[in-house]
Amino acid sequence: MLTVAVLISGAGSNLRALLEAASDPAFPARVIVVGADREASGLAHAEEFGIPSFVIPWAGAAQREAWGDELLAHLEVWKPDLVVLSGLMRLLPPAVVAAWAPRLINTHPAYLPEFPGAHGVRDALAAGVSQTGASVIVVDDGVDSGPILARERVSVLPGDDENTLHDRIKPVERRLLIDVVRRIAVGELDLAAASTI
Ligand code: GRF
Repeated sequence: MLTVAVLISGAGSNLRALLEAASDPAFPARVIVVGADREASGLAHAEEFGIPSFVIPWAGAAQREAWGDELLAHLEVWKPDLVVLSGLMRLLPPAVVAAWAPRLINTHPAYLPEFPGAHGVRDALAAGVSQTGASVIVVDDGVDSGPILARERVSVLPGDDENTLHDRIKPVERRLLIDVVRRIAVGELDLAAASTI
């Protein structure tokens, strides 16, 4: 059974989807802890599913290394097999990446390497593309630049705004995340062998 820590900043809809998938006894992974950089509303999902959680309040970029050390200490207690960044809106300090990659994956609401960064949906709209997408990647020291584990196209529709487009991307993101976690758990996906497309 693959054990998973999930890190969030927001509503945690991807987290919830993973918790629901993992509540099926046949699913080969379990979420054992949820962490956040603030009192994120998504922590309520962890509570509902009886999963322990922790908050390490973000105290600004100047404190990034100290924040990362605290995160490392929590992860060392829980010792998950895999860490999932699921809407964690922080760039991890290099020490965290060094300690956990490639057992550290991230979901992103664009078809990477297109539109990396914090505003993937907004940037796709601003570029006027007819298609964007969703991706799951291994985290490296860059911004959404690590090896791509899964990605899928989502059409941009006339009249889309950031919310409507993001709302159509998120279900795809969830499906990809659940499938990637399953494939890692059953040994179909070897994170160490994943390479940048
Ligand atoms: C997801 O689209 C994630 O990729 C992005 O923020 C969103 C998080 O949504 N960075 P949620 O917190 O899982 O609902």
